[in-house]
Amino acid sequence: MSSWIERTTPLSLLLLLAVFTAGEPLLAADGPGREATPEEISALDLDVRADGAGLPEGSGTVEQGEALYAEKCAACHGEFGEGVGRMPALIGGEDTLASDRPRRTVGSFWPFAPTVFDYVRRAMPFGHASTLSVDETYALAAFILNANGIVRDDFVADGRTLPAVKMPNRNGFLPDDRPGKPAVRCMSDCRSVPRIVSRARKEEGK
Ligand code: HEC
Repeated sequence: MSSWIERTTPLSLLLLLAVFTAGEPLLAADGPGREATPEEISALDLDVRADGAGLPEGSGTVEQGEALYAEKCAACHGEFGEGVGRMPALIGGEDTLASDRPRRTVGSFWPFAPTVFDYVRRAMPFGHASTLSVDETYALAAFILNANGIVRDDFVADGRTLPAVKMPNRNGFLPDDRPGKPAVRCMSDCRSVPRIVSRARKEEGK
């Protein structure tokens, strides 16, 4: 006859252990889960908006970015950002967006510079995301913009300069005016706090 331990799956054992050993209860009184701690929130609350809101303290130069780029990015994106094999190019593509073969790059396509910082910080280098420091990320953004001829060689990327960069495709995005889509963007007095529309159902007896 099998013992209790053998009959209990490892997963449910782990769950039991987690419930009984964690310092705070995993099941909150009003439903599943618990409030995230401020530390947990700040580790994930990294998003930078198109207008630059959320850009952290720090800075980086084109020159610093060039060295980092050669070390951490060129293997996939090419020495000058031209793209290796099927990896995306980061430069070029001007005047191709309306053609049969649009080449969408940071230079030709992206409407705002702060989101270059946001994307690189969270997603690159591919396979080693979240390993770049804030200053390294600013430097890489400076280099990519410079390689596209958008900023000068002495450009220093920071929370003030990136939002001021005028991207070539800044006005290339239009609100979706197909029927059923909101054709007008909300630019002021928009909802600032997300509205909770539903919650997970409370389990009986919890
Ligand atoms: C191992 C290969 C690899 C490395 C190294 C790498 N990337 Fe990428 N990169 C990719 C791939 C693949 C994508 C497309 C990802 C996707 O679309 O989901 C991408 C996308 C990007 C984009 C968005 C391109 C666009 O227009 O959509 C940027 C910007 C970028 N990488 C910057 C960098 C920077 C800066 C580094 C160095 C810190 C870096 N990458 C290192 C593979 C790589």
